Amino acid sequence: MSELETVSRRLTLAVAALLVAAGAGEAQDRTTVWDGVYTAEQAERGEAVYKSHCLSCHLADFSGTEEASALAGEPFMESWREDTVGNLYTRVRNLMPFDEPASLSDDAYVDSVAYLLQVNGFPAGAAELTVAGAADVRIEAEDGPGDVPSFALVSAVGCLERGDGADWVLARATRAVRTTDPSDSSPEALAALAGRPLGTRTFELMAVYPDPAAHAGHVMEAKGFLIRSPDGDRINVSALGMVADACGP
Ligand code: HEC
Repeated sequence: MSELETVSRRLTLAVAALLVAAGAGEAQDRTTVWDGVYTAEQAERGEAVYKSHCLSCHLADFSGTEEASALAGEPFMESWREDTVGNLYTRVRNLMPFDEPASLSDDAYVDSVAYLLQVNGFPAGAAELTVAGAADVRIEAEDGPGDVPSFALVSAVGCLERGDGADWVLARATRAVRTTDPSDSSPEALAALAGRPLGTRTFELMAVYPDPAAHAGHVMEAKGFLIRSPDGDRINVSALGMVADACGP
């Protein structure tokens, strides 16, 4: 497979994951997995679910197999940081067990997710995790939010400039943040982004149609799939919207 084919395959998978995640909503809230969002008893019930319905593929030490993802440690954080527990729940609820998706009760799924949180070192608390509550809980590292991983659907705001050749770049851009909606932002949403300080990142923009030349020098929001690479981060653009008509000094 060529590199491009690989990228396009990853994007297709990412879109599929996104459709599954759609509807779970995006949390602006700052509740995180470090706030004690499940109880110890719930995790114990989740452990029983895991042993009967998940362990056969993901294994007793959560290391998984070539097909079944590892569910603890680095690989877990690499897949899920800056996402929500709600999206994790939806993924598990709709796709697991892989050989019999959506076959368990919602409670069993929530409990299994509580158990995964415990296994990943996030503390238990006083209240149980619920399906409704999970949507507002961010998964992040102990030292706070970090950069979202490659292939996440993101939004970033920066100054549209011509890069090398025919390419466009988003310069002086903010950190890329996750979004659940790949389509054009509403005028209100774009207006809400105006007046915020820009950042120091640069994103190369891929697949920007139509040609955005009329917006050169404008503050733009770019949405799309983030592709991290050693020669610079790129956004495979799904929507580009104007935030302000001048980038300023
Ligand atoms: C028959 C094997 C099988 C069983 C049983 C199974 N899984 Fe999976 N699981 C997979 C495979 C294969 C993948 C990778 C494909 C995917 O992500 O859609 C996966 C992916 C996952 C992921 C996504 C990991 C990531 O980082 O993207 C989670 C979370 C998960 N499983 C949790 C569970 C839970 C919880 C259960 C039990 C309720 C379970 N699985 C049961 C095979 C299985």
